[in-house]
Amino acid sequence: MKIKNVVVIGSGTMGSGIAAHLCNANVPVTLLDLTTEISSNARERIHKSRPPLLIDKSKVNNIKVGNINDNFDVVKDADWIVEAVVERIDIKHQIYEKIFKARKDGAIVSSNTSSIPIKVLSENLTDKEKKDFCITHFFNPVRYMGLLEIVKNENNDLDKINSLKEFCEVELGKGAIVCNDTPGFLGNRVGVYAMQIAMTEAFKMKLSVEEADAIFGRPMGIPKTGVFGLYDLIGIDLMADVLKSFIKELPQTDKFHIVAQEIPLVKKLIDTGYTGRKGKGGFYRINKEGGSKVLEALNLETGEYSPSKKIDVKSDKVDLNALINRGDKYGEYAWSVLSKIIKYASSLVPEITKDFNDIDEAMRLGFNWAKGPFEMLEEIGVENFFSKIDEFKGNKFLEELSKTKDEKFYGERQKYTNIETVGKVKRKAQSVDGNSSAQIYRFKDYNIVEFTTKANALDYDSMDALKKATDKPLIIINESMQFSAGVNLTYTMDFADKGDFKSIEKFIKYFQDTCKHLKYSKYPVISAPSGLTLGGGFEVLVQSNFVASHTNIVIGLVETIVGLIPAGGGCKEMLARWSETKEAKKDPNYAPLKVFDIIGYGKTATSPVEAVPMKYLRPEDKTIMNRNSLLEVSKKIIEENKDFIPTEELKFNLPGESVRGEMNKILEKLYNDKVILDHGLEVAKELAYVLSGGDTTVEKTLTEDDLFKLELDAFMRLIETKKTQERIKHTLATGKPLVN
Ligand code: NAI
Repeated sequence: MKIKNVVVIGSGTMGSGIAAHLCNANVPVTLLDLTTEISSNARERIHKSRPPLLIDKSKVNNIKVGNINDNFDVVKDADWIVEAVVERIDIKHQIYEKIFKARKDGAIVSSNTSSIPIKVLSENLTDKEKKDFCITHFFNPVRYMGLLEIVKNENNDLDKINSLKEFCEVELGKGAIVCNDTPGFLGNRVGVYAMQIAMTEAFKMKLSVEEADAIFGRPMGIPKTGVFGLYDLIGIDLMADVLKSFIKELPQTDKFHIVAQEIPLVKKLIDTGYTGRKGKGGFYRINKEGGSKVLEALNLETGEYSPSKKIDVKSDKVDLNALINRGDKYGEYAWSVLSKIIKYASSLVPEITKDFNDIDEAMRLGFNWAKGPFEMLEEIGVENFFSKIDEFKGNKFLEELSKTKDEKFYGERQKYTNIETVGKVKRKAQSVDGNSSAQIYRFKDYNIVEFTTKANALDYDSMDALKKATDKPLIIINESMQFSAGVNLTYTMDFADKGDFKSIEKFIKYFQDTCKHLKYSKYPVISAPSGLTLGGGFEVLVQSNFVASHTNIVIGLVETIVGLIPAGGGCKEMLARWSETKEAKKDPNYAPLKVFDIIGYGKTATSPVEAVPMKYLRPEDKTIMNRNSLLEVSKKIIEENKDFIPTEELKFNLPGESVRGEMNKILEKLYNDKVILDHGLEVAKELAYVLSGGDTTVEKTLTEDDLFKLELDAFMRLIETKKTQERIKHTLATGKPLVN
């Protein structure tokens, strides 16, 4: 069946997220709630949401709103009705009665419940109604979280479930995993257990909140919010409700009970309104007393707050064996948490799913872990794991594995989808080489380069890998959250601290050479971004021949925010793109001024729809809802370009003094209005210098190399200033820009 029209009932966090995402997929959708005021406020929230739930904000009114009394008629025309009302069975039952009376024959009805079993939800339904009823459990925020769990009942029409799965996969871009009707399904069962074990072990082993988050975070391939940060984000009170529901549903023998015991300090936090970020604070809080904002962390023993300490665990890479073998309390904590997660997850096979692989993928898509528990076990090594683990009696999966000791037990990745994903093909590469910043996967007809650093920040080695991989068509793609957050500023600042500016210059020059090499190499180069594609990351993309972009990108040239200008070809390529416009053909100042505005303000786009008008992306670049499909689309581009011929190098006619004068006038006003200060002015003047063609007074024709040289010179002048160094350091330390 085709899904052409959807009604979402309940316009809270989830209902509005689901409606917004259907709007992203251009599917007509109506959002109903108790009153039209509630659903229209929800639509207003969608419009203002940050990060934006909509790919194209101008489409917000495509979401129709109404109330369940006057507008219930819309249900008659819907092919799919999603219930996302409060987690109360009586209310849900009432709604189903109403829906099934009104819906057209065969329309799918699903619930977004996170904890009520399908057998309870559907207990009042007839067998015929049950055929079309299932759970579709989306994760928050719906646009950004990849996981969708679909739970069937015994009466379902399987063709219909499969067509719903396909719709959610192709149109909504979700990783749709069909799972059994067990408490918390896959993601929350293992994810919430993991959070609880990370928390209870921190209490037991007397780790501070910051220490636990520093370990149960990036070093494990887990988002940096860690455990206590995530608790604050979700809401400490909400987590308590989630735990209660697990305690109610799970048998006493389930190990979940051990980690779900009420912790007195946590109860006290909830009772006193410290429910996390939405409340007065939580495990962390911002103390605004005395006029300044100070991040504080809770002492787990005394319950007192004190300024949060930055914990440097000196582990930038995910290396689980190095982590668990550190020989200190952090290593002990890591092993204790990891081994218990692996034990618990494996004890659930085959009860919650026969494919352990699905648990890993649920953790990846629903909790943004780089690896799920089973792949972590594979990384630790089977032999190694069993030499360290204590007992695992009754755990059939581990008992079996301890006998076979099969290091290759894992097999295929991402079994839940038929799409040929990066994760699947990586395991089939003919050869793999690379360095500490990037991997090269070589196949018969193409190569893949996957960046592997923190936030995929780029350094000399990243460029080296790209250069080496151009002996075939090249796809630059990765499985982590970000395409690339830009040049590795820590790496750059290490040189600056030593006064070694020659090495910085050498690196930027190599960056430029590599990007030029990508642009004019014999075989096509395709960038397939998802997530952050900023600064140097954008420069790699813009000098690739083709782009296949996920709809969830944050793209732009943000160098000015840290007191620099783009020097890897960003200024050059933006000038090239804006020079092609008909306005630029008439007015030589048009393109430099446009680019000056975009780069000067460090403007970013949060979707391809926003990126095209700024020319960060071109209309012909492919945009894809499902991240899993980026590789297939990129491969198709290679196939369609068997006769690829690199283009000719570009020439630029830049107007010199006339446009620089205009830019200076703009800057003067901004400076007088105090929008920019002294250093901001200095940075913007360097940008004006590059975009106008250097210190030329009259119009001048420049080659790409000439422009690279201008970018490099201006960049070097800026990086040598104390103020730029201070701004970079501030951003590295706080993640926030220093205003100037
Ligand atoms: P919410 O509290 O934000 O929104 C619930 C909405 O339902 C409210 O707007 C309320 O006015 C409306 N409502 C209540 N009774 C209604 C009725 N009889 N008819 C129409 N609307 C009615 O709740 P949230 O967080 O959006 O949760 C909705 C469902 O999604 C729940 O089943 C929850 O378990 C599930 N869920 C929640 C997640 C989350 O992160 N918040 C994640 C995944 C699932």
